[in-house]
Amino acid sequence: MASLSVKGQVRLGVLVSGRGSNLQSIIDASHAGHIDAIVAIVISDVADAFALDRARTHNIEAAFVDPKLFEAREGFDAAIIDLLRKRDVDLVCLAGFMRLLSPLLVREYRNRIMNIHPALLPAFPGLHVQRKALKHGVKFSGCTVHFVDEETDTGPIIIQAVVPVLEDDTDESLSARILTYEHQIYPKAIQLFAEGRLEVRGRRVFCHGMPASEQDEKRNWGVINP
Ligand code: GAR
Repeated sequence: MASLSVKGQVRLGVLVSGRGSNLQSIIDASHAGHIDAIVAIVISDVADAFALDRARTHNIEAAFVDPKLFEAREGFDAAIIDLLRKRDVDLVCLAGFMRLLSPLLVREYRNRIMNIHPALLPAFPGLHVQRKALKHGVKFSGCTVHFVDEETDTGPIIIQAVVPVLEDDTDESLSARILTYEHQIYPKAIQLFAEGRLEVRGRRVFCHGMPASEQDEKRNWGVINP
């Protein structure tokens, strides 16, 4: 079975635009030895993104690529690809990266770009996710780690976590509840990749070699918060 991963320690390139709490969860998991991966470079399209400070604090290379220097998305993405290639990045992790990727980057790293989204895709793609979920009146929401394809938030789903929506929830309280699960499932998805257990067939992602003890409960890699 063709595995998506590389042998040995996976080198991550993490793309960020903001505070970087998901980046932090990946760095922490790497340092704790919970994932066979290291963050090789953090790249931001926002000069003062706090995520860049987090990277520097951990002596991880932090790069700002200014979108204003490029006329088209492809130019910006070519600069990103150049940085990722030079650092031998195996897996690209979008962690609160708020720019659309061009097909150039998606093609270069086909099934090697993951994104975390704070909803149960395909529900509520795009922006203002919590507001849309509350307005719609859903009883459960959650988060999704998926591979990135050419469209927004449409790629094959790797892991989801389900979170209840409470009657007195605000955008902020629901975001905060979901975020704690984002920090759990993103490192988990990276580790599945690192172990070479993920296979994409069409829209579906299959996970091979699940330990027997985990098969009954976790065979679909959904995480349910009762
Ligand atoms: C996270 O909630 C992430 O799921 C979301 O942005 C936040 C970034 O937080 N991403 C998207 O909405 C992408 N469509 P962080 O910077 O603290 O990781």
